[in-house]
Amino acid sequence: MILIDGNRVAKEIKEEIALATNEIISNGGRAPHLAAILVGHDGGSESYVNFKMKDCAEVGFESSLIRFEDDVTEDELFATIDKLNNDVNVDGFIVQLPLPKHIDENKVLEAINPKKDVDGFHPVNVGKMMTGLPSFVSATPLGITILLKRYNIETSGKHCVVLGRSNIVGRPMSVLMSQKEMNSTVTVVHSQTKNIKEICASADILISAMGKPGLVTADMVKDGAVVIDVGTTRVKSDKTKSGFKLAGDVDFENVAEKCSFITPVPGGVGPMTRLALLLNTLEAAKTSNT
Ligand code: GUN
Repeated sequence: MILIDGNRVAKEIKEEIALATNEIISNGGRAPHLAAILVGHDGGSESYVNFKMKDCAEVGFESSLIRFEDDVTEDELFATIDKLNNDVNVDGFIVQLPLPKHIDENKVLEAINPKKDVDGFHPVNVGKMMTGLPSFVSATPLGITILLKRYNIETSGKHCVVLGRSNIVGRPMSVLMSQKEMNSTVTVVHSQTKNIKEICASADILISAMGKPGLVTADMVKDGAVVIDVGTTRVKSDKTKSGFKLAGDVDFENVAEKCSFITPVPGGVGPMTRLALLLNTLEAAKTSNT
């Protein structure tokens, strides 16, 4: 069994991004700039956004954090998005999800200029990705495809089962795996799927993005399968300073020994998701610098 080290791969590619940033600056350009809009004080969202800002500093990007309280109006958000869309010094920006219930998330995402939509959530980017055109691809699926490639994992002709059909992970993941570059045969499993166990047990590559700790048990995994765990559920823990730890979807202890490759949680997909946002921001900066 090979443990896929997302931290190591992300660190290697971050060094490449830092070099590319230096090159842009030494050619007279400015550092790529990522802005993030954060609404409210959800602990998970706050820590994700803080990590994104820290990542930017590490590779020499500029970053800005724009914060609102939970009672922000849609109009206030739209005004800020409009400003960022038109700010020539901002290459890309994200609106951290989820948003409070009184805000229409889809309307907010559609207000972002697709050229600055480094999350790849705008329908224009989703549509381009679906049809194989150059686009910003959602960070987690993009990060996973990079991991598979860096570990030379054969995907062509393999049966890939994706658990979950979210717009952020499961659905785009299933599309990327079925496209010509990856060439897998894909099954998407969701909450209404019958025979989940049997389908999973037939997977050569199993990608779980359900957010349900312990969902994937050893009897659902074929010997020699590749298992990618996207789950990052915050669960209480008396072993950490924060009182929380991240739990994956996979019963790692019992599943790992059956796998050819497996990602741990933390340290597998998570660092690659953060890395992919940097890659998208670098790409946005290259386009806006030319
Ligand atoms: N919430 C959970 N994941 C993400 C993400 O990748 N981007 C944004 N904007 N919000 C999220």
